[in-house]
Amino acid sequence: MVAHSVLITGCNRGLGLEMVKQLTRGNNTPELVIATCRKPKEAQKLNEVAASNKCVKVIQLDVGDESSYSGLVSHVGELVGAHGLNLLINNAGVSPKSTRINMVKWRQMTDTFAVNVVAPLMLTKVALNAVTKSLSVDLREHNILVASFHPGWVQTDMGGKNAPLRPTESISQLLTQLAQLSELHHGQFLQYDGEQLPW
Ligand SMILES: NC(=O)c1ccc[n+]([C@@H]2O[C@H](COP(=O)([O-])OP(=O)(O)OC[C@H]3O[C@@H](n4cnc5c(N)ncnc54)[C@H](OP(=O)(O)O)[C@@H]3O)[C@@H](O)[C@H]2O)c1
Repeated sequence: MVAHSVLITGCNRGLGLEMVKQLTRGNNTPELVIATCRKPKEAQKLNEVAASNKCVKVIQLDVGDESSYSGLVSHVGELVGAHGLNLLINNAGVSPKSTRINMVKWRQMTDTFAVNVVAPLMLTKVALNAVTKSLSVDLREHNILVASFHPGWVQTDMGGKNAPLRPTESISQLLTQLAQLSELHHGQFLQYDGEQLPW
């Protein structure tokens, strides 16, 4: 089992949806999978998974909406009860449509920064690693393991169809790594297949 309870952000499509699907298959499913997304009413595929798996609770969360955080904490607290939340996967992310620096609009960059950076306490993907390291120091005394995972280049809306990996391949290996996470990986940057990546 990966954990007793798991919360994943951005579960309506892409890698988040694939995580929910795989976590609910087989005998080692968590007792509770809290699958968040921005628009639950429109999350048809996620709602289908939830309808056939009682362990999946779909709740609304826009990670860029800081004002919703306290309500979220209360809601999650009620769901997990005395066990607490065992695993938080900050999956939700955006990528500016244009990667050419002279074509990226100000608004695209600030939106990206808000979702990828501020929401899960990171800066850019580069600074994410530094923040992971910093959080790992701060949270060590609370016995909370922190690691960053690179899913590989995957065929999702973000990764595009030329990516070499399918979501099933990336996520099955990534969940295997998560299940084996230990103090040894605390503060590290890891690839979906367990390879440790350089800072
Ligand atoms: N695919 C790759 O090759 C690749 C490579 C490296 C890292 N990653 C990382 O893996 C993660 C998942 O990527 P993906 O490929 O699954 O991307 P994706 O297919 O584009 O899906 C992105 C997900 O994030 C959600 N999201 C975006 N902004 C949000 C917000 N403000 N609040 C809540 N949810 C929000 C989206 O919800 P909506 O439908 O509401 O927009 C969607 O569910 C991201 O953090 C990405 O940076 C992916």
